[in-house]
Formats: sequence, C-alpha cells, structure tokens
Amino acid sequence: MRRLFILAATTFLLLSLSFCGTARRGAPKYEPLNTDNPAVAQGEVVFMTYCQKCHPGGASGLAPAINNKPLPGFMIRFQVRHGVGTMPAFKEDVISDDELDNLVAYLKALRKAKDKPQ
Ligand code: HEC
Repeated sequence: MRRLFILAATTFLLLSLSFCGTARRGAPKYEPLNTDNPAVAQGEVVFMTYCQKCHPGGASGLAPAINNKPLPGFMIRFQVRHGVGTMPAFKEDVISDDELDNLVAYLKALRKAKDKPQ
C-alpha cells in the first residue's frame, strides 16, 4: 500500500512538473513572423542556430533583449562580428556575410512584429 502511494505521488509530481515546467518566462506573446521573405526565413534559421540560446525569441534570457530597441543594422553586425562585452564573436567562417544580412533582416522583422500587438 505504502509503495503504491509513493508511486502515485511520484507520478503526480512528474506530471505536474511536466505541465508547469513548460511555461517559459519571456515566451513571445506576439503573432508569428511572416516568413514569406526568404531573407527573413533564412535569417531565422541562423538566429535559431547561433543566437536563440542566449536571446530566446529576441527577448532577454542569458543576455539582454534585442527585440525591444531600435538597433540599426550596422550595430547588430558589429555586435555579432566583434562580440562586445560578454557575448562571443561570430566570424565569417561561422556566419557568412550573406547569413549576417539575413540575420539582420530577421531581427528587424522580429522587432516589427513585436511592435504590432495582436
Ligand atoms: C553566449 C550567449 C550569447 C550568444 C550565443 C549571443 N549573444 Fe548577443 N549578447 C550576449 C550578451 C551577454 C550581451 C550583452 C553584452 C554586454 O553588453 O556585455 C549580448 C548583446 C547583444 C546585442 C546588443 C544588445 C544591446 O542592448 O545593445 C545584440 C544586437 C546581440 N547580442 C545580438 C546577437 C546575435 C544576432 C546573436 C547570434 C549571432 C547573438 N547575439 C548571440 C550573449 C549572447
């Protein structure tokens, strides 16, 4: 009987963890991006590969948010190439110039989508 109780309690705990654990702080609350533009779609892939882990959805995570301020393209490029502060630099052998162009297009589209509430 006692074992059964422990089993039930463990199952309940695991279930509640799996339900509660998925609500992420800073999850995007805006409409999905229109990725009809191929540059934006490719930029999204670059972002998910290299930036998402620290700037989840462009919002703050390990790093400050980058979807809430009007950073001009050249600033984004500079930050990516030189990694100001504690952010690592991403050189041309990791993110090519074309990929960086697409990444900037994606970040601008992301910011625009965020400015438009649902
Ligand atoms: C390892 C974590 C990490 C990764 C990966 C990362 N960043 Fe960052 N990023 C940071 C941190 C930390 C800062 C703040 C730097 C500082 O000022 O010390 C930052 C700052 C920035 C800023 C400047 C924000 C501001 O307020 O001026 C931009 C733009 C940016 N990151 C873009 C990117 C892009 C684009 C990528 C993907 C190519 C990326 N980051 C990948 C950690 C990261």
